[in-house]
Amino acid sequence: MRNAEKAVSVTQRWKGLLCGIIGVTAVDLNVVPLVIRGLQRLEYRGYDSVGIAVTSSGTLLIRKGAGELEAVRRRLSLDELQGLTAIGHTRWATHGPPNDINAHPHTDCSGTVAVVHNGVIRNYSSLRQELVARGHRLKSETDTELVAHLIEEASAGKPFIEALASALGKIEGTYALGIVNAGEPDRIYFAKMRSPLLIGIGKGVRALASDIPALLDIGKTIVFLDDGEFGYITPNDMAIYRLLPGGGYVKLTPQEVAARTKVVELSPEAASKGGYPHFMIKEIYEQPEAVRETYDGNVEDPALDRAASLLASAEKVIVVAAGTSYHAGLVFSLIAARRARLLLYPLIASEVSYVSDAIGKDDVLLAVSQSGETYDTLEAMRLAKERGATVIGVTNVVGSALDRASDLKLYTRAGPEIGVAATKTFLSQVMLLELLALRTGVETGALDRPEALSIANALKSAPSLLSAALEASDPVATAMARAFNSKSLYVLGRGLGHAIAKEGALKIKEIAYVHAEAYPAGESKHGPIALVERDFPVMVVATSDSPEVAGNAIEMAARGAKVFVTRPADLRLELSSQKGNMSVIDLPPSGGLLELEPFILSPIYQLFAYRLSVLLGHNPDKPRNLAKTVTVE
Ligand code: F6R
Repeated sequence: MRNAEKAVSVTQRWKGLLCGIIGVTAVDLNVVPLVIRGLQRLEYRGYDSVGIAVTSSGTLLIRKGAGELEAVRRRLSLDELQGLTAIGHTRWATHGPPNDINAHPHTDCSGTVAVVHNGVIRNYSSLRQELVARGHRLKSETDTELVAHLIEEASAGKPFIEALASALGKIEGTYALGIVNAGEPDRIYFAKMRSPLLIGIGKGVRALASDIPALLDIGKTIVFLDDGEFGYITPNDMAIYRLLPGGGYVKLTPQEVAARTKVVELSPEAASKGGYPHFMIKEIYEQPEAVRETYDGNVEDPALDRAASLLASAEKVIVVAAGTSYHAGLVFSLIAARRARLLLYPLIASEVSYVSDAIGKDDVLLAVSQSGETYDTLEAMRLAKERGATVIGVTNVVGSALDRASDLKLYTRAGPEIGVAATKTFLSQVMLLELLALRTGVETGALDRPEALSIANALKSAPSLLSAALEASDPVATAMARAFNSKSLYVLGRGLGHAIAKEGALKIKEIAYVHAEAYPAGESKHGPIALVERDFPVMVVATSDSPEVAGNAIEMAARGAKVFVTRPADLRLELSSQKGNMSVIDLPPSGGLLELEPFILSPIYQLFAYRLSVLLGHNPDKPRNLAKTVTVE
């Protein structure tokens, strides 16, 4: 990590991605303008809907609706709200489409408890069934609303803090919660588990929020909460408790609180990029979190089983997508061939119309799109539907056009991606699609259930391997970028390595404006090798399905190419004849588990592209001629 980035590493623990929450309480100040300003600074975390709840003289006033902050602010006259205590939310939808009802805050049956939430409640389905069976009336499709009802249920005759602790004991998953209770108008309760949450301290005012920028108007003194902590703030005070394993809780000592309290010196602009100079590098470093959220949000989702059974019984499975999403589709096709013994048809979305006559009603089209709004992908879906095929949609945006048009919907949970080049959404797609390939393997009978389960369990280590890969890759990528002096390069791989190479080459092209061509390594000697002369750069992605790629690396080196072989450190490669012009870059070991290798091998290419782009004086967040979402043919 660079020095500028190190200086603000204090922010890097706070990477939860979906939604932003804020709560402010003051002695004698209308806090609504502070909440609105905080929401503006949190909008990078989601912009599907907005809501504010104010407690005032024993009542709760809520205004909320679908849309971006400024639109909702005007439509619902949010500035008219007034009060000394308020919570607010900006949403990135995960459970339920982005509409007025699903907008936060959510309330209990009595309408006296209001909750805002960032995170995903994993045992949502069973909790919902139980609450409905006990007579709770649920208004939205969100996981968040359950929290309000769980607190309501636990609060009979008990102090609110105990009811909160009891509700937390029933929830599995991730959360940063802000909660107001009409009966206690000068208090905001909170809880944190693996989603970011901080407390800001000012004079006669305290606040909590998902990220530092939203707190900078309150003051520069910040309390960094840990997982498993909950409590409340008042304008001049706070109490923090720690949940104990097996139930119960203890209060943090003043020394413990002091140890968490820091003064931060950051501008709101720098803070919204987490202290990083660009969104792209921030998002590259958010990947472990995005992949973990995607794993947690899908591993027990019954929709995955339904999708797997559709794939297993389809006549043909056609995987369509554009750009990076297409590369995730290639990874899926390779893993599905191996684990489910299914030969799929991965197609670039804009090419589908030329072969759509061959699509029939017993086929399944799996459409993959981060934005869910890519014209080419939507058009391919339309053609497939016209021919009677079933469409499964994989997207990062609940409520997008792709989502609405899909017969069955699956979601990555990467949060909003602002950098134009896709990074965290790519590896989140890979995670979701790998889980789907494993389930499909069970459906086709190629895998038995325990085997599929054990691989899915091993995938839990992907986020930590990804962190290790980022750490190992960045210094190497930086050094390579500094030494780079060429107008073009090859990125070679076989099998899975080829899919990763294609994604790596796309990143290099689009943000560094260097011609990078990915090629199946075996095919390189059928033409492309003619370009190779002394010091021509060739990067090689070595994966455990294709150690024979070593032979291609040697061929290139023998012709004078400057070869960089990237591999999981435990992958044995026959590189005995390597010369001085070949470097082997050892990345974290995969234990031979192919599914883990995209997480180990992709970061070095993303980082190389990013570092090279910056060194060449480009803006990696906004590459020329490109838009984040391509809604035209
Ligand atoms: C590359 C990139 C694009 C997109 C492509 C598809 O970094 O971002 O290639 O992957 O435009 O976009 P989605 O996934 O939104 O359909």
